[in-house]
Parts: sequence; structure tokens; C-alpha cells
Amino acid sequence: MTTETPLLPLRLGVLGSGKGSNFRAIAAQIAEGKLNAEIVVVLSDVPEAGILDYARKMGVPAIAFDPGKFRTKLEPEIEGQVAALLEEHRVELVVLAGFMRIVKYDLLTKFSRRIINIHPSLLPKHRGLHAWEQALLAGDTVAGCTVHYVDRGIDTGEIIAQTEVPVQTGDSPETLHARIQAAEHELYPRVIAGFCENRPPAAE
Ligand code: GRF
Repeated sequence: MTTETPLLPLRLGVLGSGKGSNFRAIAAQIAEGKLNAEIVVVLSDVPEAGILDYARKMGVPAIAFDPGKFRTKLEPEIEGQVAALLEEHRVELVVLAGFMRIVKYDLLTKFSRRIINIHPSLLPKHRGLHAWEQALLAGDTVAGCTVHYVDRGIDTGEIIAQTEVPVQTGDSPETLHARIQAAEHELYPRVIAGFCENRPPAAE
């Protein structure tokens, strides 16, 4: 007879700058017992971001930080402080969910292959901002979303998984974006579930 050692919930740290719908989708899967994970901290460079409000309502530690003087990245010292905060919370997987800054320094070295992002296109197509608009402008008939490891580039890291969605006749940027986001809310928890399963069991 074999005895199964249970896995402890995977400790997630979520970084976001926006409304937090992906954060909520992940939290909902955890609450329903479908994802063996725990969101232990949420961090944002935008103090008024919806993601922080939702986290607080759920009782998750939610911390706003000043990103410093750059527009598209964090100051190296600040990125170091963010990485240290995640380590203090014993985060095992860093989940970027609408985090609007490039990470370059300690977040990549301290969380190598343990930091992932979701992007609203079928990468490598349409990197950067408003990817759903780029898909419409390009006349694509298929759009989608991608979860990938984070590297120093903009949406350039190794692809983990993708979901396709159709572009429908008469789609506006808003309708296509909504369809892509619905796919994101299914894909991101599913990818995180893969990280939950592929790690050693908790020590007894
Ligand atoms: C998502 O569409 C994601 O693809 C992009 O930023 C958006 C974040 O949305 N990286 P939300 O804050 O999770 O609602």
C-alpha cells in the first residue's frame, strides 16, 4: 500500500496594475477547491488599482509601491525591494496579471522560471499594448491569449500555453477584448494548476 503525501498549496504572489479580473479568476478557482494554490500577496504600482481593492476584500495582503522615476520599468533598487517582499512572503510562483511594467533585474534572477505573464494575443504575434486592436488591424481571423515565462523583453519569454478565440465579423476592439479575456480567465488558472502539480510534495 502506498501513502500519498499531500502537496501544500502553491504560494502565489500576484503583480497587477489594473482591474484584476485575472486575479479574481485565479482566486475563484482556489475558493472552489479546483486549484491547490494560495495567493499570499498582491502588489501593485498603481495605488488605486482594482486588483488591490479585490485583494483587500478577500483578506489577501495588498501592497501598493512607488515604481520610481521610470515610465515602463521599475528602478533597479525598487525591483529589488519587490523581489525581497515576495521572498518574505515565501512566494513560489510570481504571477503577472496586467502588470504594466517590464521587469529586468531581481525579479528575473530570484524567480528564474518562476515568473509568468498572460498576454492577450497569440504570441509571437502582437506583442505590446492593445494586442486585440493589433489583431483587428491586421485582419486576423483568429486571436487569443498566451501564458509565457517572463524574460527581459516585452512579451518575448518562452511560451507555456495558448488559447485561440475566433475574430467575428463586426467585432469591435471591446467585443474582441472581452472574448479574449474570457479565455484568459480559463487559461491562467489551468497553467497555474500545472505548476501546482509539478513540484515535490511537502516534507512531513
Ligand atoms: C489582461 O488582458 C492581460 O492579458 C494583460 O493585461 C490584462 C489584465 O487584465 N496583460 P486584468 O487586470 O486581469 O483584468
